[in-house]
Formats: sequence, C-alpha cells, structure tokens
Amino acid sequence: MIKRPRRLRGSELIRGLVRETKLEVENLVYPLFIVEGENIKEEITSLPDVYHLSVDKLKDEVNELLDLGIKYVILFGVPNEKDEYGKQAYSDEGIVQKAIREIKNISNDIYVITDICMCQYTSHGHCGILCPNGYVDNDKTLEYLSKIAISHVKAGADMVAPSDMMDGRIGHMRNTLDKEGYVNIPIMSYSAKYASSFYGPFRDAAHSAPSFGDRRSYQMDPANINEAIREVELDIEEGADIVMVKPALSYLDVIRKVKDSFNVPVAAYNVSGEYSMLKLAVKNGLLDEKAIMESLISIKRAGADIIITYFAKDVARMFKK
Ligand code: PBG
Repeated sequence: MIKRPRRLRGSELIRGLVRETKLEVENLVYPLFIVEGENIKEEITSLPDVYHLSVDKLKDEVNELLDLGIKYVILFGVPNEKDEYGKQAYSDEGIVQKAIREIKNISNDIYVITDICMCQYTSHGHCGILCPNGYVDNDKTLEYLSKIAISHVKAGADMVAPSDMMDGRIGHMRNTLDKEGYVNIPIMSYSAKYASSFYGPFRDAAHSAPSFGDRRSYQMDPANINEAIREVELDIEEGADIVMVKPALSYLDVIRKVKDSFNVPVAAYNVSGEYSMLKLAVKNGLLDEKAIMESLISIKRAGADIIITYFAKDVARMFKK
C-alpha cells in the first residue's frame, strides 16, 4: 500500500496541521432576548440555558460575553404591548431601543446587530401589516420595516438584519438609511429564510407565533434551492452586505450553493429548534457535548462565514477548557 490516509491522522499535532475548517468564537453571534420590567433574568423554558433579560440585567450579561470573547450580539425584543401596526417596534422608548442604548453605555467592544421584524410586536403575530383579507401587505410593510431600522440605528445599532421576507425590503431600507445619513450602516439580510418548524422554541421565547394561518406566503418552501439563489441575488442587487440562510443544519446544501454562487459574506442561523434538540440531548447525557462542535463545524464547512447561534457561550467555554 503506497497511499495510507491514516498517516495524517496519527496525532493531534498532525491532525491540527491538516485541519481544513476552523471554528472561531470571532465568527459567532449570540442572540439576546430583552423583556420589559426590572431585575428579570429568567431561563426560557423552550431554550435551556438561554434567558429573558431586562435592560438592567444587561451589564452582567455583556461582561460575561466579553469575558468569553464573544463580541457580537443580535437583539430580539419581547414587548408587553402589541397592536395591529407593531408601534412598539419603532418607538424610541421601545424595548430594543432601550437595550441598544444600555449596551452601548456598558461597552464599546460589543457589536450590536438588531433583528428587524414585526411579528413580536403585532397583535396578530404576522411579520407585517395585514390587508383586510389577512394577507400581509408587502409594500405597506416596507415603510414600517424601514422605520424600525432607522429607530434602531438612531439608538446606536451597528448593523440591521431584516428577517421578514417581504419583497424589496433591502432596497427600501438601504434607501431610507442612506437618506437619513446612515450610509455606513451594513445590512445583513435574512435572504433565504424558510418557513420552518425549527423556529418553534423561538416563537415561545419571543411570543411571536401567528394567531392565525402560517408564514408560508412570505417565508420560503423548504423544498426549494433555486429560489434561495434568486432571493440572495435580489438582496445583493438591492444592497445587502451580508446574506443569510436560515435555518442552518437542514439547509447545509443551500449554504454551500450560496457560498459558491456569490462573493459576499454568508451567515447561517443555527435556529432555536436546532439548538434545543441538541442541548437537551447533551443535558440528558444522550450525546457528548463535542456533538455541539461537530454540528457547528458542519455549518462552517458548508460555507458559512458567520454563525448566529445560542451555542456561542458553550463553544467559547469549550475552547477555554
Ligand atoms: C422573526 C424571527 C424568527 C426567528 C428569527 N427572527 C421567527 C420566525 O420567523 O417565526 C427565528 C429564530 C430561531 O428560531 O432561533 N421573524
């Protein structure tokens, strides 16, 4: 035998030398759920080890993240008040706006991305403004999404990430940001966002499940990949700086195809359902915690430059060990 692939697997040193993919804390974004009220740090039942935090608890959280080397967060608001137009989403005194100001107060070393959507803020739980027949009114929703983006950026957000899946939202938002003088604020678009059952625990955490129907008239059919490429292409044309595929683990082929087809950074969202399944299995001793690293490295290997994940702290802790 001349060729023996095992020669390159004999020790950790040689394995390290030829390792093709590396997971780094620097590429991870950690989601934070902000609630109204004071002195609240409550574990989210559907997302073990992840918490609902009130604004006054952000100091401890941010310091913990910085100690672990995690520098990127994405914020989700869980407001008390909801209405048909999601007013709390673009109020200067909204929960996310307050959280952004607080985080910026605590440290300049943390980069704040905000999720731009309406589902946590609307009484009906859909991601936009409804027509009388219950269909989400695309063009009217664009005005609101841009308004939300502006209010986040005014509060100090470093990057905005629209997750609604309306047509034309990136172009509308880019235009509005530019007109208001925010030409340097990047947009990370949830470009290929599927109508997935893996968002279940998040909807529990964010109280954002639709009160009727589902999201299939705006989020993508899990069976499609060409459509993902069309969505990404449109978003890049409209000015997206980073494009995202969501969820991640059941869509590794989509991540790879997007990575090979375009030359912008690609993000993948390792969503709540993917997290909770694995987290529970590890907590209950069914799987070793190395399974977490393995599943995240698969997302990286598929082509993701950035991974949004509830596992960010676990990964950072494992690296420290
Ligand atoms: C808001 C939004 C959702 C997620 C991120 N932004 C929920 C949804 O579209 O229903 C899901 C994230 C996760 O499951 O971790 N539209």
